[in-house]
Amino acid sequence: MIAIEHLVKYFNRRGVNEVIALSGIDLTIERGEFITVIGSNGAGKSTLLNCLAGTFRHDEGRIVINGKDISPWPEYRRARFIGRVFQNPLTGTCASLTIEQNMALAFRRGARRGLSFGVKAAYRREFMERLAMLGLGLEHRLKNAVGLLSGGQRQALTMLMASLVQPELLLLDEHTAALDPKTARKILDLTRCIVSEEHLTTLMVTHNMKQALAFGSRLLMLHNGRVILDVKEDEKRSLTKDDLLSRFYDMQGEEVESDRMLLT
Ligand SMILES: Nc1ncnc2c1ncn2[C@@H]1O[C@H](COP(=O)(O)OP(=O)(O)OP(=O)(O)O)[C@@H](O)[C@H]1O
Ligand SMILES: [Mg+2]
Repeated sequence: MIAIEHLVKYFNRRGVNEVIALSGIDLTIERGEFITVIGSNGAGKSTLLNCLAGTFRHDEGRIVINGKDISPWPEYRRARFIGRVFQNPLTGTCASLTIEQNMALAFRRGARRGLSFGVKAAYRREFMERLAMLGLGLEHRLKNAVGLLSGGQRQALTMLMASLVQPELLLLDEHTAALDPKTARKILDLTRCIVSEEHLTTLMVTHNMKQALAFGSRLLMLHNGRVILDVKEDEKRSLTKDDLLSRFYDMQGEEVESDRMLLT
């Protein structure tokens, strides 16, 4: 279980450009929950994920995972149990290393000892099996540098790597936004498959409300660094895009027509 307690994050604190990106987020996430996160530009979605991953250190509050307050833990230490996939397909993998070297690194992240940078035959077999699941033919390209792959192939590989050692928490930040619609669908199918097979606790940020409704067991809407909507299970299943828009409008009491959230 993950408890986020009154999480506050400032940028440029006490400076002229001070921004309060998270203004007191309280959230309890049960093991195995698949949460979709929506909200307008600048709502704090990426900041929330970055604070969980330790990329940004929060200013107030606590992040407690399985009873442990991980707030002081640096990013690399959290990376052992947090998997991430970002919007940019270039960020999740290392271009100059081969597919199998990238996968070996992801494997080592789980702090398993004895796996050298070279890839042992047993692991190679496992990597090939996993890659074959993608249906992209990557299992025959283990020795290819990742820089040779397309954006969609790289994103699929990143997704696989993020879940190679079962993470306590999987963070997806608009991970299909930079892909063409067909590839995006493929990555989303893969996401659904991996998350449900491995029962991964997942936070998935999306700007696509249809996706936010179709995926997951819980939906959060963020605005101005706060959670303004939190719906689960049955209530989520009965929600429509129009409901979401009117809830957003009610919360704001302001016109939101120009918002990117409404465009998808
Ligand atoms: N590194 C940073 N330095 C200064 N301000 C930042 C930084 N990162 C985010 N912010 C500010 O924090 C607020 C929240 O940004 P965040 O990136 O979390 O929004 P978001 O919900 O992910 O938006 P988007 O949908 O555009 O990705 C915004 O006001 C943003 O300008
Ligand atoms: Mg963002």
